[in-house]
Amino acid sequence: MRKREGSQTTQKAALVAHAVEPRVEPRVEPRVEPRVEPRVEPSAKHIADEWLRRVEAEYHSAAATQHYTLWLIQAGASPDLIRDGLRIVEDELVHSELSYQVYLAAGGTGVPVLDRNALGLTRECAELEDDLLRVCVSVFCLGETVAVPLFQRMRKHCTEQSARTALDRILVDEVRHRDFGWTVLEHLLESQPERQHLKNLQANLPALLQSLLASYGADLSESTAGEFDRAWGLIPGAEYLDILERCFHRDYRPRFARVGVDIGDRFSANAGPLPG
Ligand SMILES: [Fe+2]
Ligand SMILES: [Fe+2]
Repeated sequence: MRKREGSQTTQKAALVAHAVEPRVEPRVEPRVEPRVEPRVEPSAKHIADEWLRRVEAEYHSAAATQHYTLWLIQAGASPDLIRDGLRIVEDELVHSELSYQVYLAAGGTGVPVLDRNALGLTRECAELEDDLLRVCVSVFCLGETVAVPLFQRMRKHCTEQSARTALDRILVDEVRHRDFGWTVLEHLLESQPERQHLKNLQANLPALLQSLLASYGADLSESTAGEFDRAWGLIPGAEYLDILERCFHRDYRPRFARVGVDIGDRFSANAGPLPG
């Protein structure tokens, strides 16, 4: 067994020796050390926080799509559409894993915090088809469509390897998720020759667009992002709103027009060119 250091016996011996012959410490002249400035690294905490928030968002997307696919099954939708939905669930799980790797690379050590009651969908309408339409528009046609230019922007100046790997995969998948939404929308509208869905869509779209606008405009506190943030795939709050505005003109208006819905020109007053 290893002998314990600093045992009582040893300490006593040292005291005795000290008493017999007091030790005189040599005078030490203070040395003036050259001052070394600490190396300043930009804090990565907000980077880690943002990527953990993205992990949580991917769980929400996985849960919403899983639930939506169940609704498609209950509605007797085409197996192709159902398989597309299940594939999206798998994508979202991969996104959460990749995002968590970025979180770890940025120094994160925690785990995502999930609001269990908020994961999944809630039936709000008497008819399942009406809920299918409502969620199709809000989650896929609006949410997944603007996700494409958003992730393009995040990826544009991203050089940190883990973040780049995540954004490369996410961007490829989001294009398919967007297309899933518009395909389901067409199916839902075609399934009702009396066009009640179309009327519902016309009636509900302004509120859905407004809530999207409110959520994107909620945090405009940061108008710029430094190179460090962009290297990790972050963009400032103000750019989210600009990207949404651009998406409104480039995607929402023509895509809704194709299914017979005019969404107006709500963003025109603020529209402006964005860096490409
Ligand atoms: Fe995702
Ligand atoms: Fe997605």
